[in-house]
Amino acid sequence: MSNKTKDILDRGKAVMMPTYNPSIAIASGKGLTVRDVDGRMYYDFTSGIGVQSVGYGDKRVVEAIQKQAAAFTHCSNLYINEPEVALAEKLVKISGLGGKVFFCNSGAEANEAAIKLARKWGAAEGRYEVVTFRQSFHGRTLATVAATAQAWCQEGYNPLPVGFAYADYNDLESVKAAVNGKTVAIMLEAVQGEGGITPATNEFMRGIRKICDENNLLMIVDEVQSGIGRTGTWFAWQGYGVAPDLFTCAKALGGGIPIGALISNAKTADVFTPGAHASTFGGNPVAAAAALAVIDAIESDGLMENALRIGELFREGLQAFVDKYDALLEVRGKGLMLGLVCEGPAKDLVAAFKELGLLALTAGEHVVRFLPPLTLGEGDLEDVIDMISDALSGVYGD
Ligand SMILES: Cc1ncc(COP(=O)(O)O)c(C=O)c1O
Repeated sequence: MSNKTKDILDRGKAVMMPTYNPSIAIASGKGLTVRDVDGRMYYDFTSGIGVQSVGYGDKRVVEAIQKQAAAFTHCSNLYINEPEVALAEKLVKISGLGGKVFFCNSGAEANEAAIKLARKWGAAEGRYEVVTFRQSFHGRTLATVAATAQAWCQEGYNPLPVGFAYADYNDLESVKAAVNGKTVAIMLEAVQGEGGITPATNEFMRGIRKICDENNLLMIVDEVQSGIGRTGTWFAWQGYGVAPDLFTCAKALGGGIPIGALISNAKTADVFTPGAHASTFGGNPVAAAAALAVIDAIESDGLMENALRIGELFREGLQAFVDKYDALLEVRGKGLMLGLVCEGPAKDLVAAFKELGLLALTAGEHVVRFLPPLTLGEGDLEDVIDMISDALSGVYGD
């Protein structure tokens, strides 16, 4: 490790709480790649964990941010700004749900808003419980940690907020068993991200909608990782032919500027009344301007179609490795949200990829997760497949 990288890592360790364990200090990003402070380049097939879907440094996004920053960077929610209205109009339009939007700053905050809205909606009947799923991930606030049915992210935080019941993903019977007289909503990811890149089956998504309709429950979909075109539709639920009552997005929406959004249908559009919920930076004009530019770029460059087409090629490339190595078990996911399931620790493969200049993620212990920018083309994909091939030869032998 060079002095520059070591110096920044050491300085960070001394003054930043050790919630993360970084090993690279990023200096810049361009397109599909990032460069560290020592000039080493990496393909970022994490997109900054699902954020840089239009790639680093997209000119249109940068210009939108610069232009808005020069005009004004903040206005309180005592007033309104045009970019937030334009973004809400756009989200209502591309969702097709005919509802309204609440803006905040992150995925956890958007999910927290969804949980609060559901509770408010059910309050008159004394209903408040939300059914969520094992292997899910919904964020790091106390309520979203409670919603995330995974021990590793709950440990040490007791007592957690009450009002969550856990079911098994892709298992409708376990959902039916979790629903009771206090249930107000079912919240799920259309593709479980952190939990292992597991897509919901068609039957499961439609079954959840049916259970919600039969029991007067709200269906909430967390699109924080899967949303904004990554799976080939604006939101992954759109690929299932069902419509939720509420869904959340964040990450890729702002092209790197923090933003979160809760989007409703008509039924839930006016549950929050003035003063019922708020966020100082919600609807921030710079974030909204960036998000509008991201959505425009995805539309005008055909990036959802590209996610499907290149995603299929990437999947085929990974499948060839599964066919070759017994230690690789399966490729799964949708569009450019792909998981390579392995017998051993996924972190070993992620480390081997990094050595060769490719950044990937784990999703649980046994899944390597790829979330490349949706701008990925065939030439770069070929380079990356070669890197993966070399790394796998190094780990498993030829
Ligand atoms: C599905 C899902 N929901 C919520 C979150 C939390 O988002 P944030 O880190 O922006 O709070 C994440 C983050 O990885 C996520 O993947």
